[in-house]
Parts: sequence; C-alpha cells; structure tokens
Amino acid sequence: GQARIGLIGLGTMGAALASNIAEKGFEVAVFNRTTQVTREFVADAGDLAARMVPTETLEALVAAIAPPRAIILMVPAGQPVDDQIAALRPLLDADDLIIDCGNANFHETDRRVAEATGPFLGVGVSGGEEGARHGPAIMGGGDPAHWARVEDIMLAIAAHHGDEPCAALVGPEGAGHFVKMVHNGIEYADMQMIAEVYGILREGHGMGYDAIADVFARWDEGPLKSYLIEISSAVARARDVATGEPLLSQIIDAAGQKGTGRWTAIESQHLMTPIPAIEAAVVARNVSSRREERARGEAMFGAAPERFDTLDHDTLERALIAGKILCYAQGFVMIAATCEAHGWDIDLPQVARLWREGCIIRSTMLDDMAAALEAHPGENLMRTPFFANLLKENHGALRRVVAEAALHGHPTPALSSGLAYFDAMRTARGTAALIQGQRDFFGLHGFEHVNGLFHQHGPWARQTATPKHEPKT
Ligand code: 6PG
Repeated sequence: GQARIGLIGLGTMGAALASNIAEKGFEVAVFNRTTQVTREFVADAGDLAARMVPTETLEALVAAIAPPRAIILMVPAGQPVDDQIAALRPLLDADDLIIDCGNANFHETDRRVAEATGPFLGVGVSGGEEGARHGPAIMGGGDPAHWARVEDIMLAIAAHHGDEPCAALVGPEGAGHFVKMVHNGIEYADMQMIAEVYGILREGHGMGYDAIADVFARWDEGPLKSYLIEISSAVARARDVATGEPLLSQIIDAAGQKGTGRWTAIESQHLMTPIPAIEAAVVARNVSSRREERARGEAMFGAAPERFDTLDHDTLERALIAGKILCYAQGFVMIAATCEAHGWDIDLPQVARLWREGCIIRSTMLDDMAAALEAHPGENLMRTPFFANLLKENHGALRRVVAEAALHGHPTPALSSGLAYFDAMRTARGTAALIQGQRDFFGLHGFEHVNGLFHQHGPWARQTATPKHEPKT
C-alpha cells in the first residue's frame, strides 16, 4: 500500500521522528537530499524498515504517499525550508499538506501560511533527539481542518502525561512555532538560573563536581523536579572521555545558540511585554562567548568570584524555585500579549499541559502551572494563589542569593532580573514619574497628571516652547 505520510530531511531530528512514526504503526515514506543517508537510515532501521518507504527523488516520494498527501519537512530552519517548499509544491496536488516541523521563526511561518498555494502547518517539536524518537511535545499551528488530517499521527508519536498526549493545535498560522519559541526562551532562562547556582556552588562554596551533582539530584526529588535539573546532575557527574577529568572542567565556558532565545527576546521588545529573566539569559550567552575579553577583564580587575559560604543549599533551592516561577510567569504573559497582537486565542493552560512531558522544560511544576492558569484565566502566574504563596515563601531566599552573590562577585543575571521583575511588579507607585518629568523637560513630551488630565507640562514649558532653532539671546 501507499505510505500514510512522507518525511523530508533525515538529519538527527528527522530520522528520529521517522522512526517514531513507523514505530507507532504508520507507514512513512522518507527522502533525504543525499541519497546515501536515506539508504543507510532504512538499512539500520531494523524491524521498523517494514513500515518505511525509502525514496530517492522528490517525485518518487510524492508517488509513494497516499493522497491527499501529508509531508513533514525536517530541514534546517530558514531558506532551506523555502527552497524545499518551492521544489515540492509543484509536484503536489492542490490539497496536499506540507508540515514544517523544524525550529522556524514564527514570522516566517506566518508568511509561509500567507503565501502557501496549498495546505500548510507550522509545528513546533521539542525534546531533542530522544524526544523526537520516543515522544516529543508537539505544538501545532495552522488550520484546524489541516491539523485534523494528521492529528492521529501527532497524538500517537507525542509524549504522554498519563493518557493525555502532549500534542495539540495551539492556534492558527505561526502560533505553534511561536509557542515553541517561547518554550525555548524559558528553556534559556531555566538553564541560566541553574548555571548561576552551579557557579555559586563551585566558586563560592568550592564544591567538587560530584558533590554538586548530588545537590542537583536531591533537588530533582523536590519542587524543582525537572528534566533540566536531572540532566544538570548528570552533566556535573560526567567524566571527560579523553582525560578522565570531570567533564565540566573540560568544556569551554562559551554557550552556543541557534537563535530561538534571541527571537523571543526581540519579539518581547516588539510587544513591549517584559521578559527580563529570559532576556538576561540571552545576554549571558552572548557575554559567555566573549572569552578573550573576559580574560582581559580578569587580568585587569582580578577574578570576581570570591569564596563565601553564607548560603545553604536550602536557600539556593528556594531561590531557584522563586526564579523559575518568575521566568515562566513572564513567558506565559508574553504568549497572552501575542494573542492580543495577532488576534490569536492560545489556551495558556493547554500550553502548560503540553509542556509537562516530552519537551526540554518538562517539570512537575508545570502541572501546578496548568492548574493555576486554568483556575485564574488571564492572571499573571505570579499572582495566582498557589504561586503567589510559593513566591511569598521563597522570594526572601532569592533576595539573599542575589545579594550575597553580588557582594562576592558572582554574576547572577537571570536570578537578579527575575527578582527585579518581582519587586517592580509589586510596587504600586514606582519611579517613572521622574522619567516622565525628564521627558517633558527636554522634549515637552507631556505627562498624565494624578488629577486625570493628559498632556500636562512642567513649569519649564513656556521657556522650552520657543522654537529650538532660535538662538537664545
Ligand atoms: C527543544 C530544544 C531544541 C534545541 C534548541 C536549542 O525544545 O528540543 O529547544 O529545539 O535544542 O534549538 O537551541 P540553542 O542551540 O539556541 O541552545
């Protein structure tokens, strides 16, 4: 018979996804630009090869799939996706469906949906290779009628939380890739906060890597239980294959990035929705890559981090709990803000439920987040009763960690930004009156008066109202 679905791009993620699809009982036709890759993939697929149709041309791929066709693209984000669509679309029937499962920028997905001459879905897939192979979180975007055609496959290959599949259509157009992008922004901040605490344990407390791994492993049994804490423990415990030294002592401290965190930060600025912990995490990666400059700084000013042991592990754990809540709160608010800007209607509790399994930021806390967002629609997570209580219990610890770290020269950009957000968001009367006064002073921009009048000016208005090009005499 003909294959139920096709898949183009047998790189790490595409190969894993194709195997997953075949394993769940769907026949899948596969194609890779380099034919050798396709041959080797199917040759190594074992029993699963029985449900795989290797194809060596796009025409053969199309012919191998039962119409109306559905074809997954798993090629590098950006131009390769447009090139692939351009090569594929002319070979397809009008109602054949193209599904981009790569890490596309959601603006590009919006554009591709608008330009598409046939059905198109933009689907965010999270969970790395393991996830793609055994169950990723799947965030779909596009037309419900198109999603319905492949929903059974998406639900079958996704991770499950109990019986609930972590796959859904979250909204139209680029909504799926948008949610995936915010997921990655949160991922950056979560990772960065853990790395900041790692720095305090290593440089501040002078702990060894195994002991640090033990601390993370203990936290993985409490409120912080999550994939990222779990793998942080495993990474801290690992030994370098080449030298036998602790692996972390051998990895250069410059973090890479493919751009999704940066996109999140940029998008938040366009929306004017604050996500400072996520932005700080992106900045921290950029700073990390300036190794040569950092070395010159150390030579000039002396190394910053000092030994100190005024923070116990419980305080550090509590600080991470508070920081994590604040960073997720920012991410969810950003999704809500985007819905308003795009006329989308993304269900926040559903997003939290999707993220509970399969994806990189999966954690037990997301269970409570889903419940809190469900019970308090439209409310910032930090003000939902459950998380407000957690913050009341733990923001003191966050404050102590940020303060002690600062006093001893340990940078904690994400934790600090999370704390500053918390404090600003519980300050009814802040300091922006001065900003408005300054703006009015130098530019007559006007301000809103407490008496309710708009476009008021300070006592300087008359003088500065003179046209600026007139020289004062
Ligand atoms: C996931 C990951 C995945 C990938 C990111 C990381 O959800 O499975 O987020 O998409 O690891 O691209 O991006 P950086 O290379 O920017 O860290």
